Amino acid sequence: MSQPLTIVVGISGGIAAYKAVNVVRAFVLAGHSVHVVATDAALRFVGRPTLEAISRNPVHSELYEGVAEVRHVAIGQSADLIVIAPATANTIAKLAAGIADDLLGNTVLASTAPLVIAPAMHTEMWQNPATVANIATLRSRGVTVVGPAVGQLTGADSGPGRLEEPDAIVRAALAAYDASRPDARAAQLDLAGRRVVVTAGGTREPLDPVRFLGNRSSGRQGIALAEAAAARGAAVVLIAAHLEVQAPAGVDVREVSTALQMQDAAALASEGADIVIMAAAVADYRPVEVSEGKIKKDERGDTMTLELVRNPDILAGLAAAKAPGQLVVGFAAETEPDRAAQLELGRSKLARKGADLLVLNRVGWSEGFATERNDITVLDAGADIVLEAVGSKLSVAHRILDVIAERLH
Ligand code: CTP
Repeated sequence: MSQPLTIVVGISGGIAAYKAVNVVRAFVLAGHSVHVVATDAALRFVGRPTLEAISRNPVHSELYEGVAEVRHVAIGQSADLIVIAPATANTIAKLAAGIADDLLGNTVLASTAPLVIAPAMHTEMWQNPATVANIATLRSRGVTVVGPAVGQLTGADSGPGRLEEPDAIVRAALAAYDASRPDARAAQLDLAGRRVVVTAGGTREPLDPVRFLGNRSSGRQGIALAEAAAARGAAVVLIAAHLEVQAPAGVDVREVSTALQMQDAAALASEGADIVIMAAAVADYRPVEVSEGKIKKDERGDTMTLELVRNPDILAGLAAAKAPGQLVVGFAAETEPDRAAQLELGRSKLARKGADLLVLNRVGWSEGFATERNDITVLDAGADIVLEAVGSKLSVAHRILDVIAERLH
């Protein structure tokens, strides 16, 4: 698992709820973003502050909170994976019947993510024909059931019904994710034989041997695109400018630093490529002069003026030079909060640059960069919205490639 996921951990009300803390912790330590949705009963067994501290996110339990942001469906829609641990007999029955009388039920119903449940209850309840039938129903719908383990239960009794160990739940859940979407799509190998170029990261423009003008791009979305394209069978060149995370295996990585280096590398790699994706954040300007030695403040005084010169627009150049059949995709990072105005900026940028598709995402002081999730809108050359997607950067990458693959044919 190289890409962080958005994981919803649902906790229902049983004594084993205290062990869910370790499930949450294991996902967080593995680098995933975890959002806990607890039932009211669960919060009688384990405290909200504990879950918030361990998950590093607010815990949601109320159906009628966050109504303005349509939270009862938003949490489920943005999940890559839902894990319910412990799943009580009551919660299992509600899941089997599709009942949505609490936030957890709504979250599950509104999601297409793989669902993994770890039942925990007394043996009699586990073996009750109602529970047996409900579990069979859930399994038939593709739900992964982990455990229960056999062993000492809460009272003096022992038998099947004990919550599976947190490590085993985490392993089974991630395996269920791997077996689902990205691999299923990779199995299609719909980009086999295609050559894909992706630029990622942020360029740096030197001022002197130790300083540069740079930006906050981490390269995560570009890396996810390279990984997803390779998984779908493409031969991928990743033009990498100062990535904060490791490039995926099986990809031809070409490291660059400045916008001019990126321009050269992109022009070279794009020859004969089917798809070119400019996900990198390119510096629009570079210093006119690069000082040979370190700039000294005593020589400059109290204020200092930097003269900058425009860098070439790499995307516009690639779009203008593209071969017939080649698809050129740009990105636009905008801080504009108003949706309509943001779309307008995207549309004019797309027209200005001449790309076939433009992936629009909002960035800000705390949005977009260095995060595991992304929220994007894709516009086509006719200025129509052809995709809106929210989720981990890998799942968003696959959705973008779905649109691209469709247009290649
Ligand atoms: N881009 C590029 N060369 C540049 C600047 C940007 O190829 N010198 C590409 C980016 O990789 C991205 C797209 O153009 O795919 C849009 O980048 P963005 O920074 O949003 O747009 P700018 O052209 O820089 O416009 P502005 O800063 O005015 O919003």
